[in-house]
Order: sequence, then C-alpha cells, then structure tokens
Amino acid sequence: MEKITFVLLVEVIAFANALHTYCDRCHLQYIPYQMIYKRALLLYSSKRRILENLTNFLIDPSASKTILPPGLRNRFDPNEHPTFPKSVAQEAIKELIEQEDLIKRFYIPKKEE
Ligand code: HEC
Repeated sequence: MEKITFVLLVEVIAFANALHTYCDRCHLQYIPYQMIYKRALLLYSSKRRILENLTNFLIDPSASKTILPPGLRNRFDPNEHPTFPKSVAQEAIKELIEQEDLIKRFYIPKKEE
C-alpha cells in the first residue's frame, strides 16, 4: 500500500513538471524551447493546434511531422526522437506553451487618453 501511494505521488509530481523532468536534459542543450515554440506558432497559429500537433509528434515522432527548418533536419533526425505516452507528451507541451508564450513577453504601453 505504501509503495502504491509512493508511486502515485511520484507520478503526480513528475506530471506537474513534465517539461523539466522529461525534456530539459536535452532541450536545455540544443533545440531550445523558444525556437520550437516560434516555429510551431508560425506553422500552426493557435495554441490548440500547437498542442495537438506537437503532442502527436511526441507520441509517434517522424520526419513527416517535423517543424524544424531544413538545416536542422540534417543534423538531428526527427525519427530518432524519444517517444512519450500521451499523458506526458500533452502535459509537457502545455507547459512549453505556457512557458514560451510570446504574448507575455510583450510590453504593451497603455494608450494615452
Ligand atoms: C534524448 C534527448 C531529447 C529528449 C529527452 C527530448 N527531446 Fe525533443 N528533441 C530532441 C532533438 C535532438 C530534437 C531535434 C530533432 C527532432 O526534431 O526530433 C528535438 C525536437 C523536438 C521537437 C520538435 C520536433 C520536430 O521535429 O518538429 C519538439 C516539439 C520536442 N523536441 C519536444 C520535446 C518534449 C516536449 C520533450 C519531453 C517530453 C522532449 N522533446 C524530450 C531531443 C530530445
């Protein structure tokens, strides 16, 4: 019983921070989140479609789903990307979108009356 509780607890913690737990070890070194988000935003326009498409990629990575520019495709093979279960993939992408949301980075001055 204690074991089960522990496992559940670990999963809850891991899921709450999926991007950090499952993705940082590679993506802090290369293919930064910001670049992924910018490419995805240009191609998919809405957050809903970014979530849908990037989750899809992580469940079943393939070159046909890549959003990387051609130069990078030659250096990193999208077919080799680690695969993740849907729950992890979805949570990680939600966190990526939240973290990189460009709108939050803009300073919008108030209109002068
Ligand atoms: C073993 C290292 C590694 C891990 C772990 C990893 N990635 Fe990646 N990721 C890469 C590399 C290398 C690329 C560039 C090649 C490619 O597109 O697959 C990439 C590309 C991507 C792309 C763009 C895919 C494309 O080709 O359009 C997304 C989105 C992405 N990663 C998200 C994630 C998320 C979210 C996680 C965690 C759940 C994660 N990655 C974990 C190495 C990793």
